[in-house]
Amino acid sequence: MEIVIRPTAAEVHTTVADIVEGYVRSGHVTLGLATGSSPLGSYQELARRHREEGLDFSGARAFLLDEYVGIPKGHEQSYFSVIRSEFVDHVNLDPALVSSPNGEAENIDAEARRYDAVIAAAGGVDVQLLGIGTDGHIGFNEPGSSLTSRTRVKTLTEQTRIDNARFFDSVDDVPHHVLTQGLGTISEARHLVMIALGEGKADAIAAAVEGPLAAFCPASVMQLHRHVTVVIDEAAATGLKLADYYRYAVEHKPASQRF
Ligand code: GLP
Repeated sequence: MEIVIRPTAAEVHTTVADIVEGYVRSGHVTLGLATGSSPLGSYQELARRHREEGLDFSGARAFLLDEYVGIPKGHEQSYFSVIRSEFVDHVNLDPALVSSPNGEAENIDAEARRYDAVIAAAGGVDVQLLGIGTDGHIGFNEPGSSLTSRTRVKTLTEQTRIDNARFFDSVDDVPHHVLTQGLGTISEARHLVMIALGEGKADAIAAAVEGPLAAFCPASVMQLHRHVTVVIDEAAATGLKLADYYRYAVEHKPASQRF
């Protein structure tokens, strides 16, 4: 794991956009997209590079991590809609090639299996963006999720529903159930890039990066992965015991080694 601590959120987003741009410029790429507020600045920076620098997404396709169950696709807070309004509509990524689990499927278990199969058939995800919940969840894998889990239905914790209530009229409108790529599914992406901003994420980041590998902190599954870049601001780094070493390692990174 490489931990990159940046002084400001803007610099976090520049670093994440640099990483994604490298993949996009290489031609055909499969992006793993995350929703939530953490990656929004990175999406805005990528859209700016598309507009002003000609960054071309025409060779890209994308898979979303998760979706709410129980709200229609057209709902403005469905992740299907959010990823379009926040990112896809602002770049030349073909919306037909942006896939997400269908939270409206009649047979939700079959839909979960289908989604995993479609990701595999596309050759897997090259670079997966991840946010982190205050309880350490990634995608919507709440504490207790099997570290090898596949896409499936999960029940949200009350804390996650409260955290996400800001996107809805009230907490009562936040669905209880979701379809999410499992921790095993997410781990199959070839490069994981986690974004975390602000003090509210400091405990979750410390647990994910320096705590034990445990289903209690689903994001700790990153410790088993061979290519992880955790890009965070100073506030999100305040719980890290080895923060000075991580800064030192980034400063002394061999020129030949990329993120
Ligand atoms: C939701 C999403 C996650 C996201 C998390 C954190 O639960 N399913 O993918 O990482 O929220 O969101 P935020 O970045 O808004 O703090």
